[in-house]
Amino acid sequence: MASRILCARKRMTRSRRNNRADGRGLSFRRWLTAAFCGLTVAVSWPATAQSSADIRYDQAARTFRLEAADVSYVLGVNQEGELQSLYWGKRLRPADPIPAAQADKGTSSFELPVNETPQEFVGWGGLVVVPDVKITFPDGNRDLVLRYVSHSIQNNTLSITMKDISRDVTVVLLYQIDAATGILARSARIDNHTNAPLTVEQAFAATWNLPASNDYQLRYLTGRWAGEWNLQQGPLHPGKVVLESQRGSTSDEVNPWFAIERGNEPDQDTGNVWFGALGWSGSWQINIEQDWQHRVRVTGGYTPFDFAYHLAPGDSLETPKFYGGYSAGGIGGASRLLHHFELESIVPQPHRLRPVLYNSWEATGFDVNEAGQEALAEKAASLGVERFVMDDGWFGERKDDHAGLGDWYVNPQKFPQGLKPLIDKVHALGMDFGLWVEPEMVNPDSELYRKHPDWVLNFSGRPRTEGRNQLVLNLAQPEVRAYVYGFLDKLLSENDIAFLKWDYNRNWAEPGWPAAPLEEQKEVYVRFVENLYGILAELRAKHPHVEIESCSGGGARVDLGILRYVDEVWPSDNTDPFDRLSIQNGFTYAYAPGLMMAWVTDSPNWMNNRSTSLEYRFLSSMQGSLGIGANLNKWTPDDFATAKKMVAAYKAVRETIQDGSLYRLISPVANEYAATESVARDGHAAVVFAFLHSSQEGQPFPQLYLRGLDSNATYSLHLQAGQLADGAVERASGDYWMHHGVAVALRGDFQAAFFTLEREAN
Ligand code: GLA
Repeated sequence: MASRILCARKRMTRSRRNNRADGRGLSFRRWLTAAFCGLTVAVSWPATAQSSADIRYDQAARTFRLEAADVSYVLGVNQEGELQSLYWGKRLRPADPIPAAQADKGTSSFELPVNETPQEFVGWGGLVVVPDVKITFPDGNRDLVLRYVSHSIQNNTLSITMKDISRDVTVVLLYQIDAATGILARSARIDNHTNAPLTVEQAFAATWNLPASNDYQLRYLTGRWAGEWNLQQGPLHPGKVVLESQRGSTSDEVNPWFAIERGNEPDQDTGNVWFGALGWSGSWQINIEQDWQHRVRVTGGYTPFDFAYHLAPGDSLETPKFYGGYSAGGIGGASRLLHHFELESIVPQPHRLRPVLYNSWEATGFDVNEAGQEALAEKAASLGVERFVMDDGWFGERKDDHAGLGDWYVNPQKFPQGLKPLIDKVHALGMDFGLWVEPEMVNPDSELYRKHPDWVLNFSGRPRTEGRNQLVLNLAQPEVRAYVYGFLDKLLSENDIAFLKWDYNRNWAEPGWPAAPLEEQKEVYVRFVENLYGILAELRAKHPHVEIESCSGGGARVDLGILRYVDEVWPSDNTDPFDRLSIQNGFTYAYAPGLMMAWVTDSPNWMNNRSTSLEYRFLSSMQGSLGIGANLNKWTPDDFATAKKMVAAYKAVRETIQDGSLYRLISPVANEYAATESVARDGHAAVVFAFLHSSQEGQPFPQLYLRGLDSNATYSLHLQAGQLADGAVERASGDYWMHHGVAVALRGDFQAAFFTLEREAN
């Protein structure tokens, strides 16, 4: 196997050498432009370089048309002055007519026009559909009727101002469309221009409308700790589906993402799919309503549960962004658009390829010290690891999870000379250094809590429910925000740290903020998250070289809001390589594989006591951004040799895996088999992983039909691990690989194969 890996590695590093993970090569955008020059661009990736966004207003018809990539989105002002959705889907021809908006008449006395008209954004006042905004005025009035007032189109942003029919309250709706993917970003700002305070009780970012169809399928992602990213899929029926977190943060119970497909038998890569994701890391809600006519409305933003935002005269409340996209290429195409959008338009730029990291958590737990970490660092470096991360246990009186959170000084027994000797050692070994923190939490057994018991979320005189022996600091409080920013800034200023693993290990219990004026106490849901984002933004501005991972006991804080401030996420504490196939599969429906850290850990794995080979564990983790979390002190020389080869093989293909187009060939869910394929952005290579759970009755592994290749180009196949069937060819056209396919010869239990295809020059 060694020679096969080296051969592919050499070929791939030749073309990749300008785009190293350390970011010292060409910027990715420049590389992309260079890569497009003189090449036939593969059909699989949105063509960033050529695309542009277009936003137009047709004054005669009073319609707005937003267009980019393969998407048109059209809305109009109807005769009532309501803003009405007219079309969202595959890009229309410029000459295609878009008739002016016409409010529905209402089908019966029970179905008033205001509920029947597919509105873009609607205030509450007798509505039976989910309103976008609900306000209580000081006189008890709760009626809000929004009408179009004006609009502007500037800097690729459409702003539409709506105003209540009698009160001086306006809502500004913001629309942007991404040039490369056609993904829209929508949000709303509510302004109180009256001279009295009012209370916003519900504020959604947007409503997405889809026309009548009786064959819509809904997908969304659910989970729990160590069992995140389960894909739910089923037909939509009249009624309402509510996806929600009331936990104070994003949550792993449901992720703020959905996809709706038209058609009864959805296929991965064909069909019409509309999808959306909220950019918010606090409590949220997405409602999917289907009416009796089978029309669909999707509304999303802050959850209205326990929500009240006080707007004094002159104050505003802005909602999070609700992103929405369309793909004619099935759910696979929808995922690929989102992946591209996240990597190019959401995460901090320039986004570098993820380094291979080592993390100490599963090896040492809380029992970290200078000598032990240095020994692990030496072993990690010998494998080709690029980043060494010390996890929990280095600070305060942290011996286990009962104490220390909140006291962010280096533990003097474990590190008598501070972190410097360890960091120097890690650097001398050629790696950069990362550290675990959990900034928003405090153990009652800590100096911080003893000094500031009023800094946690709580209701006066009520119990303070602990989770993992910790309480949540109320980040909405200015002094708490200042403390958290202050210790992180000091840590990063005094130590040469390249990476923070930012953890968040519990949900809220008693969300009280007794120190705030009564009418502002429920604003904690919004202000907490805004301050979190503010701290992250300030830290990044002051320490631009520091990268951050969002972790929440696994994948409980992954969303398009936090992703604007972090470079990667930890999808699950479950590192069982077989469970991971399903977890990672679900993750990629909404998030890019390159954002997903995946560690190789020990066998048998603590989660299921399942034993697997080191090669299988590596191949499972190589589907995302590779990390190693095993106890290297227990590894044999053979393990080191295998790992070294796998790390080298991964580095040779990581750009294709992390930034390429993912095709889910065989789902691991409830299946004996699984397979994924990633195609490089410029189409020069593809990487395939195949996994077998258990052979049964001598059944062969199903033929693998590849996707996303250039039909006419010639590709050579390089087997890196596992086995192909006898007589397998090594050179053939894209059409051959996609239509004849590849026969993988896997037999036994927990077996895996890995091969690459390289496009030959014409
Ligand atoms: C959480 C994380 C783990 C590890 C521990 C440390 O559970 O998800 O990876 O960092 O905290 O306490």
